[in-house]
Amino acid sequence: MVDSLPVDVRLDDPLKLACGLVLENRLAKAAMTECVADPRTNQPSERHDRLYARWARGGLGLSITGNVMVDRRYLERTTNVVIDARTDRVALRRWADAAQASGTPTLVQINHPGRQCSVFVTRKPVAPSAVKVDVLGSFATPRALEDHEIDALATRYAEVAGDVVDAGFSGVQIHAAHGYLASQFLSPRTNLRGDRWGGSLENRARFLLEAVRRTRARIGSSVALAVKLNSADFQRGGFEEDDALQVARWLEAEGIDLLEVSGGNYESPALMGIVDERSGKTLEPHMQAALPDGAQRANASGGSREGAPSGLHAPWGRGWRQPLEKKTPR
Ligand SMILES: Cc1cc2nc3c(=O)[nH]c(=O)nc-3n(C[C@H](O)[C@H](O)[C@H](O)COP(=O)(O)O)c2cc1C
Repeated sequence: MVDSLPVDVRLDDPLKLACGLVLENRLAKAAMTECVADPRTNQPSERHDRLYARWARGGLGLSITGNVMVDRRYLERTTNVVIDARTDRVALRRWADAAQASGTPTLVQINHPGRQCSVFVTRKPVAPSAVKVDVLGSFATPRALEDHEIDALATRYAEVAGDVVDAGFSGVQIHAAHGYLASQFLSPRTNLRGDRWGGSLENRARFLLEAVRRTRARIGSSVALAVKLNSADFQRGGFEEDDALQVARWLEAEGIDLLEVSGGNYESPALMGIVDERSGKTLEPHMQAALPDGAQRANASGGSREGAPSGLHAPWGRGWRQPLEKKTPR
């Protein structure tokens, strides 16, 4: 791990990753869930092609897709892309081509929501342990995964990575931040397991490290492998900064190319800087949209195209700041 960064780095300096991929500049678009897949099929669509082609024309050094799901039973939202045997390989390749037509390398973010899968997707979510998300009744109590299921899921991440790289994407980013499945394994608040997947930090990091190791084995050393990790959950007794530093060292030893550092989760959504006036905490749009009031206003502001009953499905469009800030919808 580098101890210090060179001070004379410019935004337009290229960056060569360990895998050999060269990013033309230091501007990266972080993952933003697109909400544009058809919820009946969860296929990549022309809307993805147009969106990513347009972003790339802006001159990004790196583009990262919104989170794509490894299992269609468990979605971060109904309009996610899912990569599995039913995925249209032609559409996937078209997406990769469109995103990279201007020469912008694009990584696909791979995710499983774990317990942060709303009741509008399933009333039977799965997670490291049966610990429910403490947010306004929008989430069911998850079932604790069996050992063999966890092992299979680590392999699923690698299979999805293989599929998207085969389709032409420059690599993948494994989502281990924001309280989704890999992040749930890392946190002692959500991982109460007493087996090899829980307890010590080493055990709690095992799922992520296995997913990374198997992904690397599947995609090879000349393709980009990134991880998004929380610096902390910002919760008492949760995943903390020292833990994050140790996990970063382990990830480096696994040979990842890039580490993106973020923070928070649905219960402690520090990442968006939105303040809940009742608690003084910050709230991110995922959580704001979970509020009934937020749902109505987000939909009223022209957000949801799905006609779905939940604000969880409302995209991050105009009006999403309003419920907690008590502003008049524009
Ligand atoms: C519209 C929108 C959608 C987002 N979707 C994702 C996503 O799919 N995956 C992800 O890791 N982060 C997602 N994020 C979070 C951002 O990538 C980023 O982490 C967040 O804005 C906070 O920035 P920071 O991580 O640099 O603190 C989303 C943010 C926004 C505004």
